[in-house]
Amino acid sequence: MSTPADRVKELREIIEQHNYNYYILDDPAISDGEYDTLFRELETLEAEHSQLITADSPTQRVGAEPLAEFSTIQHRLPMLSLANAMNTEELLAFDERVKKRLGTENSIEYMAEPKLDGLGIELVYEQGVMISGSTRGDGFTGEDITQNLKTIRSLPLKLRGKNIPALLEARGEVFIKKEDFITLNRNQEKEGKSIFANPRNAAAGSLRHLDPRITDSRPLSIYFYEAGSMEGISFETHEEFLSAIKVMGLPVNPFIEKISGGNELATYHKELEIKRNNLPYEIDGTVFKVNHYTKREQLGARSRSPRWAIAGKFKAQQTTTVIKDIDVQVGRTGALTPVAKLEPVHISGVTVTNATLHNQDEINRKDIRIGDTVLIERAGDVIPKVVQVILEKRPQHSTPFIIVMHCPVCGHKSYKPDDEAVARCINISCPAQVKGRIQHFVSKLAMDIEGLGEKIVDQLVEAGFLRTIDDIFTLEHQPVAELEGLGEKSAENLIRSIHGSKKTNFARFVYALGIRNVGEHTAKVLEANFNGDIKKFQRTTAEELEDIDEVGPIIAQSIIQFWQDKTNQTMVQNCLERGVFLAKVKQKTALPFSGQIFVFTGTLEKLSRHRAKLVVESLGGKATGSVSKKTTYVVAGSGTGSKLKKAQILGIRVLSEDEFLTLVN
Ligand code: IVH
Repeated sequence: MSTPADRVKELREIIEQHNYNYYILDDPAISDGEYDTLFRELETLEAEHSQLITADSPTQRVGAEPLAEFSTIQHRLPMLSLANAMNTEELLAFDERVKKRLGTENSIEYMAEPKLDGLGIELVYEQGVMISGSTRGDGFTGEDITQNLKTIRSLPLKLRGKNIPALLEARGEVFIKKEDFITLNRNQEKEGKSIFANPRNAAAGSLRHLDPRITDSRPLSIYFYEAGSMEGISFETHEEFLSAIKVMGLPVNPFIEKISGGNELATYHKELEIKRNNLPYEIDGTVFKVNHYTKREQLGARSRSPRWAIAGKFKAQQTTTVIKDIDVQVGRTGALTPVAKLEPVHISGVTVTNATLHNQDEINRKDIRIGDTVLIERAGDVIPKVVQVILEKRPQHSTPFIIVMHCPVCGHKSYKPDDEAVARCINISCPAQVKGRIQHFVSKLAMDIEGLGEKIVDQLVEAGFLRTIDDIFTLEHQPVAELEGLGEKSAENLIRSIHGSKKTNFARFVYALGIRNVGEHTAKVLEANFNGDIKKFQRTTAEELEDIDEVGPIIAQSIIQFWQDKTNQTMVQNCLERGVFLAKVKQKTALPFSGQIFVFTGTLEKLSRHRAKLVVESLGGKATGSVSKKTTYVVAGSGTGSKLKKAQILGIRVLSEDEFLTLVN
C-alpha cells in the first residue's frame, strides 16, 4: 500500500511529465479530462494532509493573496540590454568589429534568434527548484514577480533530468501569442474592461499585476534565451547551454539557429523578416550572439550592452494617408479616446481605417488636425499610430483639434485627473458604458447574478429594459420572458437570481459599482474600514480615505470623483431602496502582526530575507521593499544605507535582527 506521501510524490511526477509533454514537446499524452482527474486527486490529498504541501507542487502555482507591492530582487549578474543594428550594413559592421577585436579573419559562429517582443525576466533555480523570478528592472535590481511567474504552466517549478546544477539562473522573455492576445482583448471587452494596445503591453501588465490570480487568468508564454549565474554546471557554447536547459524542461524557441559569418547574419535577418507575419507571436527583430563563451569573454561589454551580441531591428511598417475626421469614442470604462478616421490604406497585410490618437496631449504634441496627411506606423500595435504630420500637405485654414470636455454619448461633463492623460465620462449610467458596467455588476465576484450573461444583458439594454444598473432590480417577468431565446422558465430563474442577489455585502456591492481603481481587494479593505456602512462611505473625504492603509491618493481621488456625480449617488440609492441589503461581515480575529508593515534592509545573519518575509506574512503582517510613513518597523541587518536613513527621518522604529526575532517569538 502506498502512503499518501508516496502517492503525492508520484502524482507530482506524473503531472510534471504531462506538463512537459504538453508545453515543451507539444505532444500531449492524455486528454484534458484525465489530466484534471490527476490534478484533483493531488489537490484532495494535499487538502487532507496539509503537511505534504510543498512550494514546488503543481497545485501551488497560484498564490492566494494579492500583494500590496512588489519587493525587489538584486540580479547576481547585471541584465544588460542589446545594441541595435538598424540595417544589413550595420549587422555586417558588427561582424567585422567582432572579428577585429578577436584578431581573426575566420568566420565567427553565432546563435541567431528571433527578438521576442515581450518582457525580459530572470528565473533562479536552486538545486533544481524554482525559488524566485524577477523583472529586468534597471538591469541591476528587478521586481520580485515569483508568484506571477509560477502561474505560467509551461515554466517548470522543478528542473528535469539527472544533471541538476546547484544554481541555474535562466533569462528569457514572457510574451502573449497573437491568437491568445485577440481572445484576451475580446474577453476584456466583453467584461467591460479596458483593452490592451498590443501583446507586449498585455504581457507586461499581466506579469506586473499585484494579484497572481489575475496573472493566472492571462495566456502568458515564455521562451528562455540566456544564462545568468550558474554553479555546478558549465558550458563551452551558448548552443550547449540552450540544449541543456531544454533537456531540463525550459522552453526554448525552435527558430534559434547556429550560423556562421556575416553573410549568414544578413540572410537569417532577411528571412525572418519575411516570416515575421506568419509567426504565432510578435517579434521586433533578430538577435545574434557569439556562440563560444571564451570569445564572449575576450570581447567583453560596454556599460549597458555586451560587445558579443547585437539586435537586428526590422524596418518599421509605415505608410502615409489622410485623416478624414476625428471621432471621440467612449470606451466601456468611460475613457474618451480620440480616433482618427483614415482614408483606407494597406499596411503589413491589413487594411487600416482608424488610428488611435490616445489623448489631447498627444494631439497637441504632434499638432494633428482634420485634413492632415500623416505618416502612420504599425509597430506591434493592432491599431496603428500617427508618427507625424506631413506639414507641407496641410490644407489651408485648418485649425487645431480640441476634445470637448463632454461625453459625446450622454453629454455628461467629463473629467481628467491632473496626473492622467485620459479624460473620462464618469456617469456610470452612460449608454456607451452601460452594457459593460452591467456585465461587471452582475459578474461572479460582484453581485453574482446567475443567468444574466453577456447576450441577455445586450438584449435587455437594446430592448430598453436596462438603462442604468439599478433597472436590474425593477425587471419584471413578462417582458423578459418575451425576449428571443428566453421563455417562461429562464425568465423565472433570472428574476429569482436577481432577487437572491440582493442580500449581499459591502465589499461585493462596492466592487460591483466598478469605481475606477477599486478592485475586489480594495473593496474588502474599504469594507473593513467603513465597517460595512455604505452611507459613511458615501460621505467620506479624500483625507479620510488616504489614512487607510493600502489606499493611496489615486484610489482616494477615484472614489471622491465617483460620489461627486449625482447620477451615481441616485443609482446607489435606488439599488438600496429596491432591496439591496448589505450584510455586515464579521471581522476575522486579528493576527499579531495584522496591519503592520515591515521593511528589511541590509544583510540578515540568522535567517534569509525571504524567510523573514514569510514569517512576517504568516503572522498577518506585510513585508515591503521601501520605507514610507506607513511602515511600522524597519529591520536593519549589517551594511544598511538609505532605507535606514529614511526610517530615521520619518521617525520609524528600527529593530536589529535579534530584536526582530524576539518580537516574533
Ligand atoms: S539576450 C545581453 N535574446 O531584448 C543580452 N534578449 O534589448 C541579453 N529580447 O532585455 C538579452 N529576445 O528582453 C536576448 N533572443 C533574445 C531576446 C532578447 C528578446 C529582449 C530582452 C532584452 C532586450 C534587449
